[in-house]
Amino acid sequence: MTDVARSASDQITALRAALLAWYDAGARTLPWRAPPGSGVRTDPYRVWLSEVMLQQTTVPHATPYFLSFTARWPTVGDLAAAPDGDLMAAWAGLGYYARARNLLACARAVAGEHGGVFPDTEAALRALPGVGAYTAAAVAAIAFNRAANVVDGNVERVMARLFAVETPVPAAKPELARLAGSLVTEDRPGDWAQALMDLGATVCRPKSPLCLVCPVRDLCAGYATGAPERYPVKTKKADRPHRVGTAWVLRDGQGRVALVRRPDKGLLGGMLGLPTGEWGAEPSGMPPVEADWRDAGAIEHVFTHFSLTLSVKVAEGQGEFIWTDADAALKALPTVFAKALTRGLASS
Ligand code: ADE
Repeated sequence: MTDVARSASDQITALRAALLAWYDAGARTLPWRAPPGSGVRTDPYRVWLSEVMLQQTTVPHATPYFLSFTARWPTVGDLAAAPDGDLMAAWAGLGYYARARNLLACARAVAGEHGGVFPDTEAALRALPGVGAYTAAAVAAIAFNRAANVVDGNVERVMARLFAVETPVPAAKPELARLAGSLVTEDRPGDWAQALMDLGATVCRPKSPLCLVCPVRDLCAGYATGAPERYPVKTKKADRPHRVGTAWVLRDGQGRVALVRRPDKGLLGGMLGLPTGEWGAEPSGMPPVEADWRDAGAIEHVFTHFSLTLSVKVAEGQGEFIWTDADAALKALPTVFAKALTRGLASS
């Protein structure tokens, strides 16, 4: 081995030792996680479910959903047997509803084609419906202790800083994944993946990294530059497009509101919604029924690919809808419609 190669491998050894020691001492206690070094095997179902939820949102937001899902559906077989509508309603508020449909498809494949047992390799996990590269790697590492390279946004940020990567994202993504891969070994891959994610979430934070408490600061090239928060370097982002639309809050005078089931394909597919027309550059759309529609203001909502202003109209009337008690509707609706309904109810 050359001196340069030896010192690089020494650095990797030091980095791994420092980060795993930090994780051993202070790993976050999370309901899907076995304490480091406990030898307890984590249930692949719980790992998979938590990872799908966490791709969506933060640990504090995902945790109550995780607890209620696992109380209601303790095994993958229970989840597989859930009616679609129940699952979609339980997912409401987590966003990106294609994930909920994929969740069910995956649970049914595990229950139906794998005897209710998750496959234990990255490749076989990847073959399950809706399981992408990230989820397959995370489940393989965390539940089965496979030396998989688990790369999410947190890990990319940590790599960009540790190695002071000057290539802007997203072009840098393959390089960041390769760097993350260079740190993975057969020794404690599950703990390693989670240690990196914890570091990214709690110390190597996007805006104000807490370098003073970072266990790997002395090995961090980004820290050495004096401006670690500059990494990952970003290209200027095009603005999100803006759309407008109308949400119609129709009430029956007995505490119920009119809902519709959205088409399976497309945004918020398969979820309950308020009647609404197209969302586009110009306001459009006819009321769902003739009634004395009144203006109830508007709400704003930001989706991944666009922002939306929804005008809210409210009236009393009848028609062929899914009539639902307003309180229950607020719980079952995706956030954008829950906001619109809240506004409609407040104004009437
Ligand atoms: N974010 C996504 N997956 C995570 C995990 N397993 N632990 C901590 N943060 C995470």
